[in-house]
Amino acid sequence: MVKERKRKVAILGSTGSVGQKSLKVIERFPDLFDVYGLSCHRNVELLSLQVETHRPKLAVVADLQSFPQFKCPPRGTEVLSGVEGILELVSRPEVDLVMNALVGSAGALPTIRAVENGKDVALANKESLVMAGEIIMPLVERGGTEIIPVDSEHSAIHQCLRAGRRKELKRIILTASGGPFWKNPGHLREGITRKEALSHPTWEMGEKITIDSATLMNKGLEVIEAHWLFGLSPSKIQVLIHPQSVVHSLVEFVDGSLMAQLAPPDMEIPIQYALTLPHRFPMQRPDLDLAKVGSLTFDLPPKEDFPCLDLAYRAIEKGGTMPAVLNGADEVAVDAFLKGKIQLSGIPDIVGKAMDLHNPFLHPNWEKIWEAHKWAQERGGSIIEERMKG
Ligand SMILES: NC(=O)c1ccc[n+]([C@@H]2O[C@H](COP(=O)([O-])OP(=O)(O)OC[C@H]3O[C@@H](n4cnc5c(N)ncnc54)[C@H](OP(=O)(O)O)[C@@H]3O)[C@@H](O)[C@H]2O)c1
Repeated sequence: MVKERKRKVAILGSTGSVGQKSLKVIERFPDLFDVYGLSCHRNVELLSLQVETHRPKLAVVADLQSFPQFKCPPRGTEVLSGVEGILELVSRPEVDLVMNALVGSAGALPTIRAVENGKDVALANKESLVMAGEIIMPLVERGGTEIIPVDSEHSAIHQCLRAGRRKELKRIILTASGGPFWKNPGHLREGITRKEALSHPTWEMGEKITIDSATLMNKGLEVIEAHWLFGLSPSKIQVLIHPQSVVHSLVEFVDGSLMAQLAPPDMEIPIQYALTLPHRFPMQRPDLDLAKVGSLTFDLPPKEDFPCLDLAYRAIEKGGTMPAVLNGADEVAVDAFLKGKIQLSGIPDIVGKAMDLHNPFLHPNWEKIWEAHKWAQERGGSIIEERMKG
């Protein structure tokens, strides 16, 4: 057997939830990977520890104010700062694979730059395709690179699609845990606390995605992500609530056969799949005990209680810059909720109002997308201020 060359990996957002798990996976395969680069935003302490352990060629501190606090790295590691530092990392010719584990809109431009530079991207940052799928997917096609999804649902679909051909695909079904409130949506109208909203029943994740899971905006963003990744119209993407989080998503082929991917709710599984594709390697984990799980249930989402899902479908239908506005307004609204400025139920209101005020620009370039994103953040911010005054 020919021994494969080690792949040089850049992990964007190595200090976050997906980033740290990616490093854990990489540590298990020293013969397969070299860590070429790592990045954080403000968590310079953790980045220092990661640099000590992995000795990357390049480390990036994205937040300019935190940069001076970064401890002097070991010899052999260059340190850069800011967005430019991240863009430089993903453009380095030595890098084979970029793991984009950044949170939010900050992740989109690095994905564009990575595919422009011919890199394969393991993509956790869902905002990249939500905001700029129309730019990224043609670049991927032209450049012959690959985007390998890391989100467990899209990883499940990627895996299920290996059972048939693209032209045989009829539709996909994204599963959603439903978050902490779906059985008791009345809660959404009362004073939900930050702690309650951050108590996800099955997954341990970063704060933004956990709040988005509670409102089902996360599923809405995933519908948009799936639309671009798998080239499907929104009518062919269904969402079902599956509180056990064992079936990660399903694919239906034209003959009526459904394929599902099942696994314990553990992000290291899709992360390892994305990093080691086309191979699969053993995971040191207890087997999934289906008898113990007992029953697997599926329900239609109660859309009237979770308006964010409909807002996301509306954003794809409108197209152009509208998904960037949905995402930008959601970012400020989630931040305001986490800071105690608004109720959880205010999130869909703020996003919906920003969308109502936006006239989407069709077939936008990155500059237009970023302009729409900033507009949505500013507009969302003013709506929040008005609510606070009122
Ligand atoms: N967590 C999950 O299980 C999961 C599952 C599926 C999909 N995803 C998706 O994966 C992405 C990452 O999620 P996460 O939960 O890992 O997020 P997270 O724990 O909040 O980590 C985010 C990472 O991005 C960095 N970062 C934050 N703001 C930045 C900025 N403005 N510029 C540059 N870097 C920035 C953070 O640095 P600091 O640590 O220095 O702040 C951190 O390294 C999201 O798009 C999420 O939707 C996550």
